[in-house]
Amino acid sequence: MFRADYKKRRDALRNKIKNGLVILPGNNESPCNYPDNTYKFRQDSTFLYFFGINQPGFAGIIDTESGEDYLFGNDVTMDDIIWMGPQPSVKDMAAEVSVRNSAPLSEVKNIISAALRQGRKIHFLPQYRYDIMLWLEDLLGIRVAQLKEHVSVELIKAVVDLRSVKEPCEIEEIERACDIGYEMHTTAMRLCKPGVKEQYIAGVIDGIAASYGSMTSFATILSQNGETLHNHYHGNILEAGKLMLTDAGAETNNNYCSDFTRTVPVGGRFTSRQKDIYNIVVACHDHAIDFARPGQTWKEVHINVCKVLAQGLKDLGLMKGNIDEAVAAGAHALFMPHGLGHMMGMDVHDMEGLGQVYVGYDDETRPSEQFGLGSLRMGRRLQEGFVITDEPGCYFIPALIDKWKSENKFTDFLNYPVIEKYKDFGGIRLEDDVLITTDGSRFLGKKRIPLTVEEVENIMNE
Ligand code: GLY
Ligand code: MN
Repeated sequence: MFRADYKKRRDALRNKIKNGLVILPGNNESPCNYPDNTYKFRQDSTFLYFFGINQPGFAGIIDTESGEDYLFGNDVTMDDIIWMGPQPSVKDMAAEVSVRNSAPLSEVKNIISAALRQGRKIHFLPQYRYDIMLWLEDLLGIRVAQLKEHVSVELIKAVVDLRSVKEPCEIEEIERACDIGYEMHTTAMRLCKPGVKEQYIAGVIDGIAASYGSMTSFATILSQNGETLHNHYHGNILEAGKLMLTDAGAETNNNYCSDFTRTVPVGGRFTSRQKDIYNIVVACHDHAIDFARPGQTWKEVHINVCKVLAQGLKDLGLMKGNIDEAVAAGAHALFMPHGLGHMMGMDVHDMEGLGQVYVGYDDETRPSEQFGLGSLRMGRRLQEGFVITDEPGCYFIPALIDKWKSENKFTDFLNYPVIEKYKDFGGIRLEDDVLITTDGSRFLGKKRIPLTVEEVENIMNE
């Protein structure tokens, strides 16, 4: 049973903010195709982190000076009880999460208006839902188009500080999500046979996530055209000789995520050409885990992994020249145009909505503009308790190869005549979720999803 100390979290936030009120809106139901037909409800992660209420129509205020917290929401009506069944009162829900003050949602306006009259600072985070933006416009008198300019950087930094370091109860919950992910991926491996439609496998594994009462942590990526990094088209019939890339994870009922990728041969046996590239990506994947520890920056881990990739490709004749220079120039990004991984927690790209520059970077480690490295979502120094994905890949993207070749890009490092022969290869990505420990790192989840050539072929041919 998941149980966090929400009061302790709110007090920790209060200690990091000098003055004023913090307003944290929860999410509302979101209509799909008409008002009463809604998407599955998903609470805002930060509201959930500090207030623990997993229902629509709530908001919280944290007074950083008086020490008081407020939960706002409307008690159910008889009509609600008829359609939804009995619900606890807002006062009881507030008490459950150690909040003394509760009131109907309309009261937020009075509290915020009074604070504004007194010239108090109102801290709010960047928003991603338009109904909430309109609500804040009404509360604060700031036009929706201008809200971004008024977000509280002090609040963003405080929330990122707290949510980045996972508590033991959060790690346990992430491991539960990983265990569901294990079942999703091993099922996909068993179903991966020539003649099967991608959509069928994607639907079955999404159903596994749903069967645990949760949902997927993002829209499942499953394709025999894995060179398209985020391929959500599932209309192909699997063909022998191709590689099926599955990037999918689960979200638990308490909204913690997993995110795994495996790439397997349709039909259950790798060709020797596939094995060569696959084993390079395995080496990259394991290298990250050996290298990641508190004090190391994830950007350095990324760069070291890119060197393992480039060396492997040089050994196969696809790259040439000095590997350190090739990686510094960004030549390897032809094959891996994305970053090694991202923070993960309640959001699969944890806290991404608060701004990647605050989540993945700091004054010491700044984002890069170089192609490839510029897509690294997380670069800063690692701390014990961070949860990060380790997801190297190697892709042969025909349009990108053609473009770079026509521009004679990095001809000192890229062996285009050999690369040309791989344009029908597809793509490989391998991804696991990693906890930074006191002196190193470890994979999350009870069992590691089959990874090596032998493990993958074994499970596919059982
Ligand atoms: N697993 C999808 C992503 O990390 O973007
Ligand atoms: Mn990922």
